[in-house]
Amino acid sequence: MLAANRTQIEQLARRLAGMRSVCCLTGAGISAESGVPTFRGADGLWRGHRAEQVATPEAFARDSALVWAFYNERRQRLLKVKPNPAHFACARLQRYFEHFDLITQNVDGLHQLAGCADVIELHGNIWTVRCTECARQMHGRCVLDGDPVCTDCGALLRPGVVWFGEPLPTSALQRAQQALARCQAMLVVGTSSVVQPAASMAGWAQQQGAFVVEVNIGNTPQSDTADARLVGPAGVIFPQLVEALESTQPNRGRQH
Ligand code: OAD
Repeated sequence: MLAANRTQIEQLARRLAGMRSVCCLTGAGISAESGVPTFRGADGLWRGHRAEQVATPEAFARDSALVWAFYNERRQRLLKVKPNPAHFACARLQRYFEHFDLITQNVDGLHQLAGCADVIELHGNIWTVRCTECARQMHGRCVLDGDPVCTDCGALLRPGVVWFGEPLPTSALQRAQQALARCQAMLVVGTSSVVQPAASMAGWAQQQGAFVVEVNIGNTPQSDTADARLVGPAGVIFPQLVEALESTQPNRGRQH
């Protein structure tokens, strides 16, 4: 597996340069260089648990304090991290293309902090909480005490993220489907491509004629079917890709 080189990146930039509609799907790998552990990487275990063991409705019903401890520790850690060059490059891509739809599996909010707008969050957002009984929903970048309760009805609050076994938010899924249907190219960045339905999205886009590019430090089940691969850290590759695009058509993307 060879690391992506400048020639490969420039070739891709030339291909993307004329396109109107590009979609990008990101996963935990894009936040890795900010210091956020990935789920399936070496540092992916939390107190010996895999995410699939704590991020479930069953785990919350069994031991909400444990699940809240997991999310509060993640919140604590996320308060200290900043977007990295890959997040900022994504925001520049959004300004470059007429349509640039950003779909993320991440709940960390780092794309938004880097200046990306209209992010399609497939798995919710860690800074959102919602009541388990009434419709109350709140958003705030802070760490919560223990098991937080709803100020309206007194019921337990839960993290506003999608857990394993739960359906994805309908609006996010619909917006993602529209993005996949219209994109001419799809960039799949920093995801192991094993969690559905995100794992199938590049395949759907490819069937509609999109050119699929994978950016990852390693191999995934997607690697063999992608039309192109850029192997290496997203924080290095993405800024180079943006630079190459902007030098191909210097007047595009800078007007905003
Ligand atoms: P994973 O932890 O499964 O995969 C991270 C991917 O990023 C791997 O393929 C790594 O090789 C790659 N990677 C790591 N560092 C990178 C870097 N600097 N540049 C580029 N690639 C890098 O994370 P996801 O695929 O996002 O779901 O996981 C999908 C879902 O599973 C998550 O959203 C979460 C999890 O359990 C829920 O919580 C519902």
